Amino acid sequence: MKKSTEIQNEDKTIGEFVAEDYRIAAVFERYGIDFCCGGQITLGAACQDKGLDPGEVLQEIEAIKSEPIQRGQNYAAWELPFLADYIVNTHHAYLYDEMEQIAAYARKIAEVHGTHHPEVIEIATIFDKISTDMLTHLREEEEVFFPALKRVVAAQKDGTAPEAQDRATIKRSLETLHREHDEIGDAVHRIRHLAKDFAIPEGVCNTFVVTYKKLQEFEDDLHKHVHLENNILFLKASQL
Ligand SMILES: [Fe+2]
Ligand SMILES: [Fe+2]
Repeated sequence: MKKSTEIQNEDKTIGEFVAEDYRIAAVFERYGIDFCCGGQITLGAACQDKGLDPGEVLQEIEAIKSEPIQRGQNYAAWELPFLADYIVNTHHAYLYDEMEQIAAYARKIAEVHGTHHPEVIEIATIFDKISTDMLTHLREEEEVFFPALKRVVAAQKDGTAPEAQDRATIKRSLETLHREHDEIGDAVHRIRHLAKDFAIPEGVCNTFVVTYKKLQEFEDDLHKHVHLENNILFLKASQL
């Protein structure tokens, strides 16, 4: 017999779990449950998909939740303008620092290893498109969406009515940004698939190894970044 709290928990979405406590993402990661772009489905449905026992997954979730939270991890409690700045200063900064270099490495291994490993040619093409699209995406967030969001939050704090134009901008931006997250997420999935989960083939050069490591790091950073936006920042912005 299932306890009533267990049934309630199975109805909660993956995104809700992760928004409540970011550390739960590690459990989903282990079971191959997508907490990023596929975060809208319930835990019950995700377990059914993967043939998992939800009770077992819930037990691990409870274990993680009972560990004391380290300072700085409770993103859901942060004020929106602060969270927006945090995202820009960590995740956007990472992309500005690394993206061009990863694209250059990917192009290089496509040239050198493309004959024996044709998948790296496609990987380089996909990554090039990701980096171009990402720059437009970051600009929309930094120059349009976040400033409008900050103005609306400030107006609410002052007890004044937010500008209708800012509300309209937020609504429009949210649609675009969500769609772009899905597109970039799909492209990154495709890279992982082509790279066979980033297994390093035999007899390749160090640049190949570094490129695969960096692509993996990129995917990891993107998942955290998109999680903070989709499941926390965008969700709260849509409720403003
Ligand atoms: Fe972002
Ligand atoms: Fe984004």
